[in-house]
Amino acid sequence: MHIALTPNVHWVGKIDTELRQFHGSDFSTHRGSSYNAYVIREEKQVLIDTVWKPYATAFVDNLAQEIDLHALDAIIINHGEVDHSGALPELMRHIPDTPIYCTKKAIDSLTGQYHENWNFHPVKTGDTLDLGNGKQLIFVEMTMLHWPDSMATYLTGDNILFSNDAFGQHYACSGMFNDLADECVLHYEALKYYANILTPFNVLLKRKLEELGKLNLPMNIIAPSHGVIWREHPMQIVESYAAWCDQYQEHQVTIIYDTMWDGTRTLADAIADGLRSQDPSLIVKTYNIAKTDKNDVITELFRSKLAVVGSPTVGNDMLSSMAGLLHFVKELKMKGKQAATFGCYGWTGEAPSKMADLLREAGFSIIAEPLRNQWNPTEAMIEEARTWGRQLIADPEQ
Ligand code: FEO
Repeated sequence: MHIALTPNVHWVGKIDTELRQFHGSDFSTHRGSSYNAYVIREEKQVLIDTVWKPYATAFVDNLAQEIDLHALDAIIINHGEVDHSGALPELMRHIPDTPIYCTKKAIDSLTGQYHENWNFHPVKTGDTLDLGNGKQLIFVEMTMLHWPDSMATYLTGDNILFSNDAFGQHYACSGMFNDLADECVLHYEALKYYANILTPFNVLLKRKLEELGKLNLPMNIIAPSHGVIWREHPMQIVESYAAWCDQYQEHQVTIIYDTMWDGTRTLADAIADGLRSQDPSLIVKTYNIAKTDKNDVITELFRSKLAVVGSPTVGNDMLSSMAGLLHFVKELKMKGKQAATFGCYGWTGEAPSKMADLLREAGFSIIAEPLRNQWNPTEAMIEEARTWGRQLIADPEQ
């Protein structure tokens, strides 16, 4: 399948409607994904990126229908991760001498993964490749967005930014363009991608967006390596990234808990009541982490100003589902968020303070003493949990 972005630029990737897990099993992809590769035909003809390894043969067969492989003057690899470079060994089997343009770090990652000494040409920000017909490719390093080897490639004349992972989403959409996609789904999947993958690099991303702005490159199309291509108001995703990288939060509190015999769940429901009664305009969302996809929960946490986190105490600690989540939260290095913890216990009751310690390490401000309850909550305890919830947001400055 080929899709025209412009008469001379075609998408030649793979829409993977069945994908449900990505990065091993670490990222849920409820709506599939796509691996976007592009062919540009000017006086010179180039390929930008490839697809994930399972689709290598189909990709090369499909590409050969689009263009004589031997007529390719260059291959641009924006990022060495296997979802974009996985078809490179199969392609290079056909055209082993074709030059590959990529960052110096990408040469390291590609040789480390494929153990091949291809015809590499390292590039850095500002380097160009002349395509003829008055058009050029301009390379822009995107270091740590999200790998050290990442870069973006800009096509002058058509004003297309091939941004690789940046501005992408795991969203298999047969329309392939944002004006043909479900707008709410697209926004959610772009946010989920950002929250779960790019959050640790917020500061770098902010600088990179400023650097991109200073390059003053007009953007008619932003063509990422996953999901739909932004051609209608393409700068909307750049504006969203500018907001997301700057300690983003909505008027939302997310309660995340696990429970053994419903005691901690009962507290969670009472705390939610308290929060809502204190501020009816507040969005309050409640998730049992053992029954909810962790990437979806992280997305809600990313939107929140306050996380209220609960677990019963088992073996002097929190339940393992919560420990796994908080380990992931620590990796993400979110800034400017508050947290409070709670939980039921039978004997010792350490879980709330241990969760607070992990959240503090993850960069959250702990704004209340933990709410602890021994055995099942009484009516009086349920009322106390409502009051505790109300007080979490009693300060209008919070
Ligand atoms: Fe889509 Fe970092 O690979």
